[in-house]
Amino acid sequence: MKKKSSFLQQFWKQKKMVGAMAPSSRFLANLMMKNIDFTKADVIVELGPGTGVFTKRILEKMHPNAVILVFELNDEFFYSLTHIFKDPRVHLIHDSAEKIEHYLTKLNLSQADIVVSSLPLAVFPPQLRDAVLDASYKSLRVNGNYVQFQYSLTSKKHIKRVFEKVSIDFTPFNFPPAFVYTCSKEN
Ligand SMILES: C[S@@+](CC[C@H](N)C(=O)[O-])C[C@H]1O[C@@H](n2cnc3c(N)ncnc32)[C@H](O)[C@@H]1O
Repeated sequence: MKKKSSFLQQFWKQKKMVGAMAPSSRFLANLMMKNIDFTKADVIVELGPGTGVFTKRILEKMHPNAVILVFELNDEFFYSLTHIFKDPRVHLIHDSAEKIEHYLTKLNLSQADIVVSSLPLAVFPPQLRDAVLDASYKSLRVNGNYVQFQYSLTSKKHIKRVFEKVSIDFTPFNFPPAFVYTCSKEN
């Protein structure tokens, strides 16, 4: 799968699902990873990996006994990911992101330490956006982190409704430039 052209193809096919015309840059990947303490992360959840730019970074950083549950709804991306990621720590899930808890239970895992999300919340129907945010919060342990990028601050109020602590970073070195929300579950 040629990454940039196939990404654009998937965007034209399913604009609101894919939500971007190109994979994220390494600058955005660095910013997404910046506040994650991988030494304390046994269970990581990734929502919307696309071609796997963040998945690769996470795998380089996560410890040997950690696991990652990767949710991708798009058929082409999912199929391609099954060829790229053979690491036994990776559980690829071809289902929608709001079903985190169902899959944690299926794998005998009680909670997640980190949720990394690339979902295009700003173009999601409100019901799906809120379901994903609520499911992410519920799945996290206390002091766990939810890290989400967005191309605008439109979703700020919705993220703040759910997470007690939210900080925002920005990088101009991405197409389009992006904001990164790092959120904590405090209670
Ligand atoms: C903006 S792209 C990000 C892709 C990649 N992480 C990156 O940064 O280059 C959003 C991704 O979320 C996926 N997606 C959209 N809705 C989803 C859902 N409900 N559940 C799981 N994945 C979803 C899309 O198929 C797409 O791969």
